[in-house]
Amino acid sequence: MTKYLISNCNHFTAEDVYFASRAIVNEGIVIFPTETVYGIGANALSNRACEKIFKIKGRPADNPLIVHTSSTGEIEKIADVRMIAHFQALSRLWPGPLTVILPSIGAVSSSARAGQDTVAIRIPDCNLALELIRKSKVPIAAPSANISTRPSITDSVYLKSNFDGKADVIFDAGKTRYGIESTVIMPKGDSCIILRPGIYTEDDLSEIFTKVTFSEDLTDSPRSPGTKYRHYSPSKKLYMPGSTEELIKIQEKFPDKYAIICVSETGQKIGGKNLILMGSMKDPYEIASKLYDSLMKFDLSPYEEGLIEPISGNGIYLSIMNRIKKAAIPLKEGEL
Ligand code: TXA
Ligand code: MG
Repeated sequence: MTKYLISNCNHFTAEDVYFASRAIVNEGIVIFPTETVYGIGANALSNRACEKIFKIKGRPADNPLIVHTSSTGEIEKIADVRMIAHFQALSRLWPGPLTVILPSIGAVSSSARAGQDTVAIRIPDCNLALELIRKSKVPIAAPSANISTRPSITDSVYLKSNFDGKADVIFDAGKTRYGIESTVIMPKGDSCIILRPGIYTEDDLSEIFTKVTFSEDLTDSPRSPGTKYRHYSPSKKLYMPGSTEELIKIQEKFPDKYAIICVSETGQKIGGKNLILMGSMKDPYEIASKLYDSLMKFDLSPYEEGLIEPISGNGIYLSIMNRIKKAAIPLKEGEL
């Protein structure tokens, strides 16, 4: 049976965290909030525990998990940071939405690493998550808490229908702060490669590294194993037109046929009851925090198909567009 614990990143009881830490130590599964999205966690040192995560999510066994720790001291026990230039400067971005790929020094289970000799590590910026890691006395492997290929969960209202009876403990902590997953980077000498863009942007990383590149832009660069799989998709067909103008044209041609996920400025131009608004184009944090929730709302809506507005821009806008591109089917002009 799943135990539900009402809490949030800043309000939780020592008893509840102790209860959840026992589940981790006993190779159980705990769903907990982070500042980005909910994580589905297990003892990172135990193959048996981490294998349960893969099974519950339906995640391919070759896609490694992110290991969460509560301090850089703990990172040094599971990864070799000596050769990493600028590790000190990078550590200042923690606790925070940054995941760094580091050489593994053994202790993390091969299941969590999906057999790689590297390990993805982050220190989340959520006191509840940090306290859970401390009390468990082990690092916690936790991918996003969602069934594989589906949108990540950023609001606890969606946890029960997906994980009731599968997780031992679920922290019911409302909405998460940022709403999209951490930036994943691979440091390489004086440069770094962004494997997955997130809230920490190219500009933030350029203050630390002399060269910052996106893995998508390089032909010979490492990719996260996860990038070859479908992601973040609602269960219904969601299309992405090439531009906002194209989206408006389709809506004019077929009013009320599609659910329309768009920013509020575009929503004002369109009008209509089929809109799901992601927030203002002026506030990328708002769009990020509403993106997955909008995909969930579309799935629950009476519309069988949907359209999502493409978002242009750099920084966080680019990270949002990275998720939209993976969630939606691109449309050619005039295709609908
Ligand atoms: O914000 C987040 O990062 C959330 C919260 C729960 O911390 N976690 C998360 O985990 O998004 P997940 O499993 O959904 O995404 C992890 C990504 C995947 O694309 C995976 O392929 C990549 O990190 N990854 C993990 N270990 C790696 C490694 N050793 N080398 C390259 N990529 C790795
Ligand atoms: Mg994920």
